[in-house]
Amino acid sequence: MQPLSIGIIGAGRIGRLHAENLTLRTPRTNVLMVADVSEDAARDCARRYRIQHAVTDYRAVLESPEIEAVLICSSTDTHARMIEEAAEAGKHIFCEKPIALSLPAIDQALAAVDRAGVKLQTGFNRRFDPNYRRVRQAVEQGEIGQISIIHIVSRDPAPPSIEYVKVSGGMFLDMTIHDFDMARFLVGSEVEEVFTAAGVMVDPAIGEAGDVDTAVIMLRFANGVIGTIDNSRRAVYGYDQRVELLGSAGAIKTENNYPNSAVVSNGLSVHRDLPLNFFIERYTDSYVAELAAFVDAVLHDKPTPVSGQDGRTPVVMGLAAGKSYRENRPVRLSEVEHG
Ligand SMILES: NC(=O)c1ccc[n+]([C@@H]2O[C@H](COP(=O)([O-])OP(=O)(O)OC[C@H]3O[C@@H](n4cnc5c(N)ncnc54)[C@H](O)[C@@H]3O)[C@@H](O)[C@H]2O)c1
Repeated sequence: MQPLSIGIIGAGRIGRLHAENLTLRTPRTNVLMVADVSEDAARDCARRYRIQHAVTDYRAVLESPEIEAVLICSSTDTHARMIEEAAEAGKHIFCEKPIALSLPAIDQALAAVDRAGVKLQTGFNRRFDPNYRRVRQAVEQGEIGQISIIHIVSRDPAPPSIEYVKVSGGMFLDMTIHDFDMARFLVGSEVEEVFTAAGVMVDPAIGEAGDVDTAVIMLRFANGVIGTIDNSRRAVYGYDQRVELLGSAGAIKTENNYPNSAVVSNGLSVHRDLPLNFFIERYTDSYVAELAAFVDAVLHDKPTPVSGQDGRTPVVMGLAAGKSYRENRPVRLSEVEHG
């Protein structure tokens, strides 16, 4: 079978990571071109991963007849437009989260994908993490019976820069969006209502930029499950990523991942090293697996495992969580959906 020819748009943090994973760890792929508005970023990425062409205009990727699939890894505000243009050019698409920050923009992009009949996968990598996969398996196979409660703890080690905060779409759409995806993926049911308590407890500058940095969001699912998401932009001990589900026949929980399993015991304490520090270290395997799944879906003409609708729903949840915080009341997702 011929390898899949791929172009990458955006050579920042995540674009470089995907370039590395595709070129070094994903069989049956051939990355032909990388585009970034920053010529240095494109060139550096191309040199490092031996990609033939580095360009500054992403349209060169879309116009290349050889390229069959594109990875959209540029800043969030470019995603929807690029999805539309890539679909019109007949390219299969892997797009980083979030697809866009508004529902009309997402709907327009998804309509273009449908019209063109190309494949779209959204970058919710945590679905491919071995811990969360095992939790999903336990739920699917009924190992802990009927689920009643889910708790998701998701805390970053330190807040991003204020420049990033200002264009991120806010914590709910930038950070919690992964947890919203995890909630519906792990439980296997849609969230119908959210109730947010949030505040600025890490950095007043985040509040001045119009965002929050700490939140607890209560979730009510269509199948009756209730849950919480616990977010902070600061956990001084490292990236804190855990879930726990309770069911009628038991419970399942995951712990943080550590760089080693050594436990030091002395006359003062019993301790160990801090957990893996951030997403690139913690979710390494999941980034490789999500691309392998995308390549497999395209090469074997199968549905992608994380669809465009899977990309859209967590945005609805994020918009509802923001509304709930501002209005200090539970908000049904249907309120956001219909206006
Ligand atoms: N799935 C994940 O775990 C994960 C992790 C980090 C970031 N992301 C998402 O990936 C996207 C990029 O984030 P990042 O952290 O890599 O940001 P970044 O700022 O490091 O990189 C973005 C890159 O896109 C380039 N760019 C901007 N506009 C462009 C355009 N029109 N054409 C070509 N290149 C353009 C910028 O020059 C920059 O190099 C964001 O949407 C973010 O939400 C996802």
